[in-house]
Amino acid sequence: MLDATFIFVWPTLAGPMDGPAIRVRDVKRTYESRKGFFFQEKVRTEALRGVDLEVARGELFGLLGPNGAGKTTLVKVLSTLLLPTSGSVEVLGIDVAKDPRRVRPRIGLVLGGERGLYNRISARENLRYFSDLYGVPPSQQGRRIDEVLATVGLTEAADRRVEEFSRGMKQKLHLARGILHEPELLFLDEPTIGLDPKSAREMRKLIRSLVAKGVTVLLTSHYMFEAEELCHRVAVLSRGRIVARDTVQGLRRLVGGDRTMEVEGYGFDDAELRALKALPGVSRVVTEEFGPRQRLTLRIRSMDLTTGEVAGLLRAHRGLEVKERRTTLEDVYLDLVEEEAS
Ligand SMILES: Nc1ncnc2c1ncn2[C@@H]1O[C@H](COP(=O)(O)OP(=O)(O)OP(=O)(O)O)[C@@H](O)[C@H]1O
Ligand SMILES: [Mg+2]
Repeated sequence: MLDATFIFVWPTLAGPMDGPAIRVRDVKRTYESRKGFFFQEKVRTEALRGVDLEVARGELFGLLGPNGAGKTTLVKVLSTLLLPTSGSVEVLGIDVAKDPRRVRPRIGLVLGGERGLYNRISARENLRYFSDLYGVPPSQQGRRIDEVLATVGLTEAADRRVEEFSRGMKQKLHLARGILHEPELLFLDEPTIGLDPKSAREMRKLIRSLVAKGVTVLLTSHYMFEAEELCHRVAVLSRGRIVARDTVQGLRRLVGGDRTMEVEGYGFDDAELRALKALPGVSRVVTEEFGPRQRLTLRIRSMDLTTGEVAGLLRAHRGLEVKERRTTLEDVYLDLVEEEAS
């Protein structure tokens, strides 16, 4: 899964004196909205409930979490669109609450979805408009627009109206818009949402190429394999709190093992589940039902336990299947989110 051409450059390029790209301390963000008859009822949603986070310069950092976890809220706070209710947020060494205007020219933001582009005009005209908005000097606009169109692979389509664009092309144009002013730090909220596998792969390649040029990227995703493929470090956000933050490898160790075994069969009983849990090296057993069939997922710490031993313990079962695979980030994520919920 890991793309061999991608080499993560641990951010030493900028030097230790420059400090991290992002430093978030105990950030809370509450939304107040109204609902009910004549919107009289006040509703408070604590979207962020004390987030601490540090992202180094040059890093490609992934923020994962289920729907409603607070990912977009955090991205908006970091990119000066929303003020935190409390806590401190420094981006490129600048306090975003005190000095958002100094932050904005140095960051890029790409929020997913269809909004934010003008459909009736061409890609190039869109980029020209945003160049003005972002203060790209007029003398440099033509060159810069050509550059970003080439970067995202839209040179051929540059003069077509955006309404004719596919979703993947629109997403590329969003990215082009986000990097027009050569930001040092780029926020990408679900950059591959709704893209087909090929377009998603192209988008990931683009993201890697930006990081290779020294841009720091913080991206959010629901797709665990995407974070696994792209990011060196990830944080898992659940209900407004970071429940884990580590390298993909580190997260695997945290939830108890690099190895996962899947056992499928009928009618496993509690005694058998207890016996499996008691096997040396087994850190976790999760049971799922598929109609009459059950699947047991075993997280395994030791290298010694074999699928044969597990099968031996359950040999009374007909139609038993025991397979081994590598623990994916998705497993890790589900374990973490489940632990948080229980
Ligand atoms: N403008 C708003 N007004 C009120 N509540 C909001 C607003 N925006 C978000 N929320 C709430 O804040 C919480 C966090 O939402 P947020 O959009 O940050 O989550 P998310 O992790 O980005 O989710 P998703 O994966 O679905 O994009 C949710 O409970 C959401 O309902
Ligand atoms: Mg979101």
